[in-house]
Amino acid sequence: MTELIPIELRDSIALLTLNRPDKLNALNYALIDRLMQRLDAIEVDDAIRAVILTGAGEQAFSAGADITEFSGSVARGADHAVRDFVRRGQTMTARLESFPKPVIAAVNGIAYGGGCEITEAVHLAVASECARFAKPEIKLAMPPTFGGTQRLPRLAGRKRALELLLTGEPFSPAHALAIGLVNRVVPHGELLNAADALARQIIRHPPGAVAAVINAATRGLNLSIDEGLLVERAQFAALVGREELVRGLTDWRNRPRAVGQTG
Ligand code: COA
Repeated sequence: MTELIPIELRDSIALLTLNRPDKLNALNYALIDRLMQRLDAIEVDDAIRAVILTGAGEQAFSAGADITEFSGSVARGADHAVRDFVRRGQTMTARLESFPKPVIAAVNGIAYGGGCEITEAVHLAVASECARFAKPEIKLAMPPTFGGTQRLPRLAGRKRALELLLTGEPFSPAHALAIGLVNRVVPHGELLNAADALARQIIRHPPGAVAAVINAATRGLNLSIDEGLLVERAQFAALVGREELVRGLTDWRNRPRAVGQTG
């Protein structure tokens, strides 16, 4: 059977590939479940420090939820549709968003619907110049269901998001960059190297600090500033006494100085 989410280890970085190229890497239930299994295994594997997520084939990152499959759930009624389709997809994007190790999308092509929602949910995203984004659910007479009505307005601002959500029109990587959906746009052939370089810039820092930043920023975004500051405080407190913090502070105090420099 075809592996839906092949994994390749590049030192301490896991490259996960959405692998249904014949269907433009549409997110069927089995693929989502396999991605969740992969994340569960990566979370507890101390040897893996970061995840890069990309799409198989020349055309797509992902063309979104598998319409053929979820149409079956919809035909069985609201309870089935919510349990099998919506809840599964929302759980996936929430897991990516709160994953304690950095997750970087390397958007290699079409990122429509759920493919765009994955890009919204992950911590960082690099797009190929060949990428193409859209929120096309409105054309199916439905709203997005994997968090797409919630995260894009928070990222891009309400009016910019609503334009994309209500028109369903595709948009360019340059526009994705302008609205804060991706961090950078690179030539197609440089995509994986650019994502890898970004991951390496992060994982040179200790894992506890990286997880604390992700956790505080992700949770705090949806809280009041006062509640967010409490999350930040708790994240810091949990690091106190840990060797990585002791070492980080000691290394700075003992850093090499230019001759004659004091203080
Ligand atoms: N779900 C299920 N299958 C999908 C799919 C999806 N979201 N997107 C693409 N596919 C399948 C197609 O059915 C086709 O397979 P088939 O030939 O066995 O039927 C294959 O992937 C290639 O897609 P095709 O439509 O022929 O490619 P295209 O280049 O002409 O068009 C898109 C590309 C992305 C414009 C078009 O596939 C599309 O509109 N997909 C749906 C996007 C969407 O609405 N996503 C949100 C879902 S909630």
